[in-house]
Order: sequence, then structure tokens, then C-alpha cells
Amino acid sequence: MEKTIALIRGDGISPEIVGAALDVLNAVEKKYGHTFHYVEAPVGGDAIDRFGVPLPEESLKACKEADAALMGAIGGPKWDSQPPENRPERGLLNLRNGMGLYANVRPIRIFPELACDCPLREDIASEGIDFVIVRELIGGAYFGEHKTVERDGELYASDIMGYSEHEIRRIARVAFDMAMKRRKKVTSVDKANVLDTSRLWRKTVEEVAKEYPEVELNHMYVDNCSMQIIKHPGQFDVILTENLFGDILSDEASQITGSIGMIPSSSLGEGNHGLYEPIHGSAPKHAGLNDANPIGTILSAAMMLRYSLDMDKEADAIEQAVADVLKDGWRCQDILHEGEQLLGCKEMGQKVAEKIV
Ligand code: IPM
Ligand code: MG
Repeated sequence: MEKTIALIRGDGISPEIVGAALDVLNAVEKKYGHTFHYVEAPVGGDAIDRFGVPLPEESLKACKEADAALMGAIGGPKWDSQPPENRPERGLLNLRNGMGLYANVRPIRIFPELACDCPLREDIASEGIDFVIVRELIGGAYFGEHKTVERDGELYASDIMGYSEHEIRRIARVAFDMAMKRRKKVTSVDKANVLDTSRLWRKTVEEVAKEYPEVELNHMYVDNCSMQIIKHPGQFDVILTENLFGDILSDEASQITGSIGMIPSSSLGEGNHGLYEPIHGSAPKHAGLNDANPIGTILSAAMMLRYSLDMDKEADAIEQAVADVLKDGWRCQDILHEGEQLLGCKEMGQKVAEKIV
């Protein structure tokens, strides 16, 4: 098959982790006889430096026209003084919105080889950690009106958090569809004891649940959920939540798997056109040191093959290659222990690629 992939090389460690994922994709091309055409789509700080804006029109167009987009991470202190609408993060948010990607899926699972990296007590970790966070991605406080004004002689700032029923309904369906393919349980996370958006969220999710009689639905307040993730993670199958809560809970959840460097994500809208990125940031302090863990990006590339390019066995091959490399005792510095062998970012990409040949 021939496919076009938009490439967002990003900031900080991002060009390195994307480079490692490309080595793995090259191995997939060779083994399975595919051709991937890459189109560069600068977004974030890199785009600000080169074009003055965090999301050049050309980049958005390239991402929309390609079969899928693969990204590392964006942002860094270098662009902290940019006005809010020109920050690197705004480029990413406008890209997600411009592509209509309302469903962000973040799988949280622990590789058996990394069990010793889990900071939870043995009896809790042994319950098994295997759940998915389905995060609404283009609504809520991220996309409401942001403003800072003078009021009563001081500055006052506000961010509007809003959700309409159709936005809740469509993301709820993603979560229920996913639960049907898993253990048939959805935990909808909100703050319905305080927020109107959460009360509408809960009511709408309950309506959608009627379409899925086989799926068990429970509701949980977000503060309780953040506690339950470390107290009893085995209870979760699919966590469904809004944008800001999902941002926070997914960073927390990544930690119980050992390292945030391991977690991939997919962002999809209608159809199977998506954006794939690890959930971690651009780690500017590590830029150029070749010590970042590219596995989150490599596994994001696997998700891209599965969900946007219709290449299941190729995706399986990447996931298996990652598992095999870990089984052989190869590690990046974030998941390294005594007796294991350290690899740099580039070398980890090559090791995984070698397993695919
Ligand atoms: C994430 C990131 C982004 C978000 C930032 C970079 C805007 O934290 O993908 O989780 O908040 O969505
Ligand atoms: Mg985040």
C-alpha cells in the first residue's frame, strides 16, 4: 500500500523520538512492501521560529490531506513569552480542532517486564493495570473564551468551560464502543456535585448508555477518580472524561505504568483520519542528549497503522517488537535498573526496528 503521513517533528526531544519512530516505520515498509510518503508539517515552537505562527496554514492542510499525522511533542521555555494565541500549545490545540479530532484515546497498561517500575504496592499492582482513558479533546475549558481584564483596580482572568449535548454524546459513544471490545465497563468521570457542565455530562452519558445495555456504567467524581487510580486501578476498563480532567488524569495514570515515556495516544474524529502522539511533553532539558525514551512515539506509530492506515498485522508487529526488546533487557534511562542494558533514543529505535526485519 501507499500512504501519506504528515510529520510533525516538534520541539525539544521531539525530533529525536520522531526520528526513532521513523526508523521503525522504515522497517515496516521494507518487511511488508508498503511505501510511506512523508510530508513535513511544522507545528509549535519550530513553526514559530520558521514562520512566526504555531500552526501555519500549510501544516494544517498537510495534516488534513494526509492519511494520518504523526507527532512527537511541542513547546518549551523558549516560547514562554509569546502571547497566548501564539504559543506552541495553541498551535497543537488549533490543529486538533482544525482536524475535528474530538476523541483522544490513551491506553494505560503495564508491560510485565516493567512491573518493577510501578510505584504502587505489589498487592495493588498485581490486580492488573489495563485501562483506556477516552478524553474529549476539542471542548471544555481549553476551547471556551479566555480573558484577562482590569476589574476593581486589579486583574481578573476567566476561562469558560462549556459543553453541548452533541459534544458529550459523540465522545460517550467512542467510550461505549471501546468498552464493547474490552471488558464492557465505562467509568464516566465528572464533578457533577459542583459543575453544570458535569451535570449535563452525566445526564447525556446516561442517555447514550441506554444504547449499550451490555455495558456497565458507573459515575465517579474526578477527585475520587484521581485517588482510585492509585488505590485500586484494577477496577477500570474505560474511563470517559472531559478535556481538562482527561489531561490531568492521563498524566497521573501514566505514572503507575512506570514511565510517561511509554504511553502512546490516538486522536480521532469522524472517519479514521487521525493524529498520533505520545502523551508526554517535549522535555527541553533533554533535547539533543539522545537520552529520551521513544517508545511512546513508536507505539503511537503502531496505533496509527491500526486505526488510520488499516494495517493491523503491521501494528501488531511493532507492539510485539517493543515487547521483545524489553524482554531482552534493553532500556532507556527512564526505565533502567541494575542488570539491564541502557540504550539511547536512536539506538532504541534501531533495536525495535531490527526486531521487525
Ligand atoms: C497533552 C498536553 C497538551 C494538552 C498541551 C501540550 C497543550 O498536555 O496532550 O496532554 O494539554 O492537551
Ligand atoms: Mg497533558
